[in-house]
Amino acid sequence: MRAKEPEIIRTIIPPYKRLAPYYDQLMDYIDYDIWVEDILNFIREDGSVKTLLDVSCGTGSMAIRFARAGMQVSGVDISPEMIGEARKKVHQAGLADGIELTVGDMRDIQYSKPFDLMINLHDGLNYLPDAGVVNTFFQHAHDLLRPEGWLIADVVTPLLCENHFKGYREIFSDESGGYERVTDYDSGTRIASTIFTFEISPTEIQVEEHLQRAYDLEEVKAMCKASPFKKYQILDDEDFRPADGSSERFYVILRKA
Ligand SMILES: C[S@@+](CC[C@H](N)C(=O)[O-])C[C@H]1O[C@@H](n2cnc3c(N)ncnc32)[C@H](O)[C@@H]1O
Repeated sequence: MRAKEPEIIRTIIPPYKRLAPYYDQLMDYIDYDIWVEDILNFIREDGSVKTLLDVSCGTGSMAIRFARAGMQVSGVDISPEMIGEARKKVHQAGLADGIELTVGDMRDIQYSKPFDLMINLHDGLNYLPDAGVVNTFFQHAHDLLRPEGWLIADVVTPLLCENHFKGYREIFSDESGGYERVTDYDSGTRIASTIFTFEISPTEIQVEEHLQRAYDLEEVKAMCKASPFKKYQILDDEDFRPADGSSERFYVILRKA
């Protein structure tokens, strides 16, 4: 008689709960120094930028660089595990006194002090599921900025998702188990999904589902127009020309009146 197959328990866990310690390795190909340089160039005309809020700060790679550039930095992220990784890095960098890190949701950010600059980078707006939620985020950000303050976000477009997100699969192994990553994009709903599967034991699997909504230029323009920000620019992230239909990713630069 054949032995009964053991039952496999599959649990859905929040995004980044298990991925957090792998995140920096996964993002190894990103040049954060250039990214920070881009942001500093955008705000160059404004010599009075001293305080920064890094929204969806993740493991703090940007926050640390801005603190080293002399800014007073706060960071907020919805994932306690990502904030945990950020705290370790900030501590190792000797910046524990200079960077304030908080677990929080960008859809309802609360601070008692104003900021000169807010950033929301690395698919920042794509984590917000529709234009209504982006509008709420813009409203809160506007309220939190000092007069003439800046909000700089980036946006992944449907074009980028069509070109790079369809049917990608990767297996990563290490001594703590690793993961399987499967990425796909639905052109109809414009939702890009990345599923990370972690084998905890032969009978236990944990799954993180990361969902992002891709936004095209017309949608982003409409969001900016509907926002309380009076001045805005939408630029191609490669060469900073005004974004067009061939742009895969935009920088959205909004300025409070
Ligand atoms: C791709 S990571 C980017 C992290 C970081 N900005 C970077 O450049 O490395 C996206 C981050 O957004 C955070 N996030 C997603 N939805 C959020 C929300 N509603 N409020 C705050 N953070 C959120 C995730 O927890 C994750 O750390």
